[in-house]
Amino acid sequence: MKVTVVGAGNVGATCADVLAYREIANEIVLLDIKEGLAEGKSLDIWQKAPIDLYDSRTIGATNDYARTANSDVIVITSGLPRKPGMSRDDLIGTNAGIVKSVTENIVKYSPESIIIVVSNPLDVMTYQAHITSKFPRTRIMGMAGILDTARYRAFLAEALNVSPKDIQAMLLGGHGDTMVPLPRYTTVSGIPVTELIDKDKLHAILERTKVGGGELVKLMGTSAWYAPGSAAAQMVESIVRDQRRIFPVCVKLEGEYGIKDCYLGVPVVLGKNGIERIIELDLTQEEKALLEASRKAVREVMDVLERLG
Ligand code: LMR
Repeated sequence: MKVTVVGAGNVGATCADVLAYREIANEIVLLDIKEGLAEGKSLDIWQKAPIDLYDSRTIGATNDYARTANSDVIVITSGLPRKPGMSRDDLIGTNAGIVKSVTENIVKYSPESIIIVVSNPLDVMTYQAHITSKFPRTRIMGMAGILDTARYRAFLAEALNVSPKDIQAMLLGGHGDTMVPLPRYTTVSGIPVTELIDKDKLHAILERTKVGGGELVKLMGTSAWYAPGSAAAQMVESIVRDQRRIFPVCVKLEGEYGIKDCYLGVPVVLGKNGIERIIELDLTQEEKALLEASRKAVREVMDVLERLG
């Protein structure tokens, strides 16, 4: 299997590293526009192979998309990260053009690939990749839900003083402050989380999750990379190994949840064909209202993209 990661910044390099040391693909191409950056980082990852004992081959390239030809899966991490005080949506002006040009090259060199978008604003950049590639919705998706639920699960593990391995969670909506974590679908080794934590504590964790990316931007002056890079690699793994894992993934809705023509996070089955199935949950009135608010927020930014042309 051949996987390309476009963008050798923090998120892209972390993703390539996880793909390599977990031997998720045997050929991993890391590509960047900055001369030497992708070559250097992929060489560094390759030199770690004898220490960490893996044989996935990492190859770096500067803007040479011919090296990415016939990739099975492509992860787009290109674009600017946000700085303190910015929202993800503030990046649209710069990142839309970058994602468009990356996608044009993907279509040219890997027309059968599956695209995973990581660039922000996530839902709208996934839409941008869709407009440019015209790939079917099964082969174009955004990574956000795994990251957002991972934050939620990590906060819960800390509060309950239990292993994060045992926490299962689901979440809907856009990758922004309107995301919709679902406590009703959160369990700790099968035990409903509401039986283990009081309402106020859970509420505080849900609110912290919604601004989880912003918390890190404030701390570091730039966006996170370890969890985002690993989350993208986990999606690649489910596809290339045809694991059919169920994750919250940003996908084009065509009537599911009563929503049309909007990219939003929902539970899906991820397998060798990409989005194998969209799972429709039976939502309460309150959850429906929250999802609708999230749809509206994403739609507004999709409209901005359409006006940008
Ligand atoms: C994240 O959630 O960490 C990413 O979307 C990056 C960001 O700026 O929040």
